[in-house]
Amino acid sequence: MKTTIALLLLCVAAPSFAAEHEHQGHGDAHPGPLSTVVNRPVDHALVARGATIYARHCATCHGARGEGAPQWQRRGADGKMPAPPLDGSGHAWHHPMADLIEMINEGSRPGEGNMPGWKGKLAAGEIDAVIAWFQSLWNDDIHEFWQQIDRRAREGGL
Ligand code: HEC
Repeated sequence: MKTTIALLLLCVAAPSFAAEHEHQGHGDAHPGPLSTVVNRPVDHALVARGATIYARHCATCHGARGEGAPQWQRRGADGKMPAPPLDGSGHAWHHPMADLIEMINEGSRPGEGNMPGWKGKLAAGEIDAVIAWFQSLWNDDIHEFWQQIDRRAREGGL
């Protein structure tokens, strides 16, 4: 809704910019218009804590900056999926918070990948911190889409 209002304002204020952006949008992996309304509080201490946890436990597979393994969309020679990006260029942002936490706790489903489950190895607060870290890599558009997905999941009682 906010995005729609922002886009309407953008169209009225600067039609040529809006048209240009729409044009650039074709073939872009990230859908949607640039938002001018950003509601994105960032807990910098939590993000910093998450960076340390990420570097220690996650970077070997997901890449130093969350860029994912090369060829992450294809199964490897072992028939398993390589680690996807977490930096907003993959699909981690399609998952509401509860699903992200569950994936990190449980790890890969059998046969799907080699991600270990972190339940019992990382405390809930450490998982929150590592999620805050990789979310800090997402641009505002991606973050806003994720907020909508997360809100819908919460309202649906998930
Ligand atoms: C041994 C390699 C490995 C390590 C270490 C690892 N992961 Fe993963 N991760 C994977 C793989 C492979 C997948 C996708 C597998 C699947 O679909 O089951 C994945 C999937 C994910 C996903 C779901 C992403 C999506 O797009 O759906 C999240 C979130 C995630 N990992 C977070 C983490 C975090 C946080 C850590 C560190 C605490 C971590 N991973 C450590 C290999 C790893």
